[in-house]
Amino acid sequence: MWYPVPECNASAGTYCALPGAAPSARACAWCAVPTAAGPARLKGPEELPGPGLLRTFVWLFLRGYLLHTHRLQVISRRLYGPIWKSTFGHYRNINIGSPVVLEQLLRQEGKYPMRSDMALWKEHRDTRRLPYGPFTEEGERWYRLRQVLNKRLLKPSEALLYADAIGEVVSDLMVRLREERSRSPSGVLVGDVANLLYRFALEGISYILFETRIGCLKQQVPAETQHFIDSINLMFKNSIFATVLPPMEPWDTIFAFGKKLIDRKMEELEGQVERGKEVSGYLSYLLASGRLSLDEVYGSVAELLLAGVDTTSNTLSWALYHLSRDPDIQETLYQELKAVVPADRFPAAEDIPKLPMLRAIIKETLRVYPVVPTNARVFYEKDIVIGDYLFPKNTLFVLAHYAMSHDETYFPEPERFLPQRWLRGHGSPHHPFSSIPFGYGVRACVGRRIAELEMHLALARVSRDPPTLGILA
Ligand code: HEM
Repeated sequence: MWYPVPECNASAGTYCALPGAAPSARACAWCAVPTAAGPARLKGPEELPGPGLLRTFVWLFLRGYLLHTHRLQVISRRLYGPIWKSTFGHYRNINIGSPVVLEQLLRQEGKYPMRSDMALWKEHRDTRRLPYGPFTEEGERWYRLRQVLNKRLLKPSEALLYADAIGEVVSDLMVRLREERSRSPSGVLVGDVANLLYRFALEGISYILFETRIGCLKQQVPAETQHFIDSINLMFKNSIFATVLPPMEPWDTIFAFGKKLIDRKMEELEGQVERGKEVSGYLSYLLASGRLSLDEVYGSVAELLLAGVDTTSNTLSWALYHLSRDPDIQETLYQELKAVVPADRFPAAEDIPKLPMLRAIIKETLRVYPVVPTNARVFYEKDIVIGDYLFPKNTLFVLAHYAMSHDETYFPEPERFLPQRWLRGHGSPHHPFSSIPFGYGVRACVGRRIAELEMHLALARVSRDPPTLGILA
């Protein structure tokens, strides 16, 4: 299928005259439409359009986009086209704002894709002499880490191993929602749903990783767990201003918390192995695999833990927010659940393939509010050619996912929350790279399957019990 780049002004039988369109009888640089004849020459990145330093300063600091860079992506995409250059601090970026161009780029990925230098996160590990995890590690060492981590996590069938654990945590979430409702003056209000969902996500990922409940959904959260929660919060708050305030202390707490639970599990495991008992669970698998050193397990678990909390909880918060504002979608989902899941049992993992609306709501939430609105890739092994441009190796490509998933060429009325656009026979065709919330290729999100399972099961349970949802309206 031919997916147009919005700026491409060619139609069938005509030539594209987009700036950057490849000359000669070759295809247009961005959209694969044949272009007018002319001499072929590869251009350098400096020939791309883009704001200068002064203009960037004005947008970020005077017009206030520093904390809204995702919106600035949309504006830049409109001003400069599918690919543009920009400068931020000492970073020289090549921004990709079209899925057609993004596909050309990502298809050239090698065996060890690199996201960016992750200097900030590495600074903490280096200073404290701690090991890198899957986010921060690179090259062959990253590849080896991922080979171990992927197992028991990445395949949908393997994620099902955790369905019962997630179901247990979802039940606790339901209890807390009901308690909050009944304790409120009106009897129906949950004061801070986002906070409860945050605790739910943290409890869920901890249970999966450590095979231990840490009490996030208890009325009285244990002090140690509360300190850990605060550290994760602080970590994210700091990230924006991290260049001036490297987040050391919160990372220390995250590592220490993980280390304690890992050490405890290690002792348990030794006992089990001595008694000849088979080990189960993710951490047990990592520890017993013999393929990672204890240090590598500490590093990986800390990063998995951090990645697995606000990603799923924010997505759930937005999904519930939109459901509460749209009774029709709520009703469609409720009827779908009623038709598939008998009233005498809870929605389960095996129901999810039969619940297209449930899945569409999560997809649409991740399109409108991508957890990673901006991603990056550095190709350090080779030069890259995209269209008529040659980019020397080590170019930093910034992937403007937010602009792409808000592009009306692929998603008409992009600001509207319309889950039905993902249903078969309802939606308009969209480029497969226009909304890729979990990333792409071998470096894509390792927690995707458990994140989906958590979100689907929680949303299904909350929606099957309409009074719970009504409180959000
Ligand atoms: C709504 C939920 C989530 C979303 C949308 C999400 C999205 C992403 C994205 C976009 C990336 C970058 C991929 C790339 O560069 O191509 C990523 C990486 C990663 N995610 Fe997730 N994520 C989610 C939940 C989770 C969970 C629950 C975990 C932990 C179990 C997790 C662990 C990771 C890790 C470790 C990486 C780094 C992988 C690597 O560099 O090799 N994520 N995620």
